[in-house]
Amino acid sequence: MTTERIERAPAGGSVAPMTDEQRRWLRAMMARFATGVTVVAARYGPLLAGMTANAVASVSIDPPLLLVAINESSETHKAIVGSHSFAISVLAGEQQALAECFAQPTSAAKLQRFCDAPWHEAETGSPILDGAIAFFDCRITETHPGGDHVIFIGEIVAAGYDEAGDPLLWFGSQYRRLAREGG
Ligand SMILES: Cc1cc2nc3c(=O)[nH]c(=O)nc-3n(C[C@H](O)[C@H](O)[C@H](O)COP(=O)(O)O)c2cc1C
Repeated sequence: MTTERIERAPAGGSVAPMTDEQRRWLRAMMARFATGVTVVAARYGPLLAGMTANAVASVSIDPPLLLVAINESSETHKAIVGSHSFAISVLAGEQQALAECFAQPTSAAKLQRFCDAPWHEAETGSPILDGAIAFFDCRITETHPGGDHVIFIGEIVAAGYDEAGDPLLWFGSQYRRLAREGG
């Protein structure tokens, strides 16, 4: 086990920004936490914005709440704030190409063509990707600052899943698939 203390010396009264090395360390440590992969998306005006996201967690069953942590400088953040809602599509193992597209910085292909992904509209108006193994359609109930991210708590107004679905995973900064039993 490698251990690193993240020490941040005060610089002129305020805390010093993370060094490049500290950022690399933190990313490497976070990368040991295996997660599924989702696309968090919302509509604003005629445009659809979406990003690949794994900072997603279940918060409460009754009321049904979940959270997402979204970078403040992203297009998706703007769309979520503008529409007060978002939809989470949990990607299937064969949807890696979509995860790669939605992780790209905003471009015309992403904003105008929504990565050419087939989708359908959720109750909140947010887009849900066809072929996802689960989805959660959410209305924002709370917003909290979270460093360079914003934490949105969403009330789940509709959800669905495909029991046979095989998930896309993210571990060690790579996309992975579940190993098949016996193979
Ligand atoms: C596996 C993976 C998970 C990610 N998770 C998040 C996340 O939870 N929150 C976030 O703000 N960005 C996350 N990102 C980065 C965004 O996908 C990326 O910044 C994207 O370009 C933002 O798009 P937008 O500006 O069009 O909204 C993740 C990227 C990858 C590859």
